[in-house]
Amino acid sequence: MVMVEQPRYTPVELIRITAEYFKTKEIDAPRLEAEVLLAYLLDVDRLKLYLDFDKPMTQDEVSGYRLLVRRRAHGEPTAYICGKREFWSLDFEVCPGVLIPRPDTEVLVERALEVMGDRGTFLEVGVGSGAISTALLKERGGWSGVGVEISPDAAGVAARNIEKHGVAERYELLTGDLYEPALGRTFKIIVANPPYIPTEEIGGLDREVSMFEPRVALDGGRDGLDIIRRLGQGAAALLEGDGYLLLEFGAGQGQAVKMIFEEIGSFDLVELLKDYSGRDRVLRARLG
Ligand SMILES: C[S@@+](CC[C@H](N)C(=O)[O-])C[C@H]1O[C@@H](n2cnc3c(N)ncnc32)[C@H](O)[C@@H]1O
Repeated sequence: MVMVEQPRYTPVELIRITAEYFKTKEIDAPRLEAEVLLAYLLDVDRLKLYLDFDKPMTQDEVSGYRLLVRRRAHGEPTAYICGKREFWSLDFEVCPGVLIPRPDTEVLVERALEVMGDRGTFLEVGVGSGAISTALLKERGGWSGVGVEISPDAAGVAARNIEKHGVAERYELLTGDLYEPALGRTFKIIVANPPYIPTEEIGGLDREVSMFEPRVALDGGRDGLDIIRRLGQGAAALLEGDGYLLLEFGAGQGQAVKMIFEEIGSFDLVELLKDYSGRDRVLRARLG
């Protein structure tokens, strides 16, 4: 019997081959994604891959990596494959029932922190993985928070993330529709990154989003603004005097969102704030 020697790949070779393959699949940041998947498989820090660059991998490792690469090439987001995503320099568990937190949403956190004094209670609507609430609680030790999430799957993930980051004793997580579970209470701050994609546009998004992320986290109705309108209309009942509502919206929705809040008439300050690329992405409105 002739034994055929299998090629013994080093991490660096595998990363190079995979990055080339990912390029053909139009995956953004192909090399980075190849590295992240390999680091996940080998359970090492990404930079450590280059320390052992000339050590060949075992056949089992190469086969395991092939499976991960195949899933990514079929569009599955790396964050779902690895079960985690970083936000605000913290690791968050994610899975297909929960939106992957985006770097852009850190702007919402920064802008909320600007108007949060030493103590108070905030409300987050649409908690998802719990990324925003966790970041706010980590930054403001004198604050407590209440979160509302409609998806039981997402609420389960949020509960684990909030526990893992050691802020659970200052947080109450409620399941339900928008403000409803929190009615009768008041808050200094309300924050939300609501679903804001127009229904018709969801199918045209990158397949990583349209095929893998939960629709309830994306779909904002016909013009994308259904949930934002409801958030604006209900806010006065839950905000303390001078309290702020902050929400993220999609690029290009700024003027429409501002008009919604000005027409409601309960707010004496309605500002549009920009993301890191200079686009209006956050609304901050103060109850008059
Ligand atoms: C765009 S995701 C944001 C998730 C997370 N806050 C983040 O920034 O990564 C919107 C979240 O709102 C939740 N959601 C959608 N409709 C809701 C409703 N009517 N009431 C409460 N939560 C809702 C979704 O399940 C989803 O977790």
